[in-house]
Amino acid sequence: MFIEGLNLEKSYGAGEVKTEVLKGIELKLNKGEIGVILGPSGSGKSTLMNIIGGVDRADGGSVSIDGIEITRLSDDQLTEYRRESVGFIFQFYNLVPNLTVSENIEVCSNISKSPLKIDEVLEAVGLLDKKNRFPRELSGGEQQRVSIARAIVKNPKLLLCDEPTGALDFQTSRSILKLLQQVNKKYGTTILMITHNGAIGAMANRVFKLRSGQIVEETMNQTIVPAERIEW
Ligand SMILES: Nc1ncnc2c1ncn2[C@@H]1O[C@H](COP(=O)(O)OP(=O)(O)OP(=O)(O)O)[C@@H](O)[C@H]1O
Ligand SMILES: [Mg+2]
Repeated sequence: MFIEGLNLEKSYGAGEVKTEVLKGIELKLNKGEIGVILGPSGSGKSTLMNIIGGVDRADGGSVSIDGIEITRLSDDQLTEYRRESVGFIFQFYNLVPNLTVSENIEVCSNISKSPLKIDEVLEAVGLLDKKNRFPRELSGGEQQRVSIARAIVKNPKLLLCDEPTGALDFQTSRSILKLLQQVNKKYGTTILMITHNGAIGAMANRVFKLRSGQIVEETMNQTIVPAERIEW
């Protein structure tokens, strides 16, 4: 088991204003698999992902990643885990506006011990010919490709994507999903992705439906649909 989340609990606030956001979540994903988390707004999806990514800490339960129980790590060790092992992709690309495409990726490769070559990553996301452009000179889909390149350049074991296609149109979304599937195949990266779009579940090995802080359904797909064939 690559991701093993057991009995995860998380609350915000205290006393009268205390809200339980995660109420005993169990989530398991094998190495090299793609997992999709579906659920309504406020159900706890980002909270769960932040705990798995070492950005936030659970109040109860445990998370192991590739055999290491990250919920027991010190703050410094958790930072190290996040830096070396996890790539993050969000709905909004968060690129540095006054750095070129290449430089945006370089910033992340510099903090890693064993990064991939920048040109290899640019090639993988189909942006080698635009490496010297600035973010404002790119379309939304191209900017998201840069943010994927930035996340994978450190060759993370785990890629966490929070609504990666939330700001993109249908065609562009599909091309981004296809790219994520290619990254998963080429580098063996385990991917956990949050989406509101149920159709995207077809490209995953496992789909977790979250409601009010609990997994209400887990589906295992026998056949994985190539992203370019998903319709919505
Ligand atoms: N730092 C925080 N302090 C207080 N409450 C928080 C905090 N972070 C999240 N919450 C609350 O926890 C609940 C779950 O939030 P979360 O961001 O995990 O939802 P989500 O499923 O990702 O929703 P969305 O689809 O809108 O992104 C929400 O009710 C939110 O208001
Ligand atoms: Mg969210």
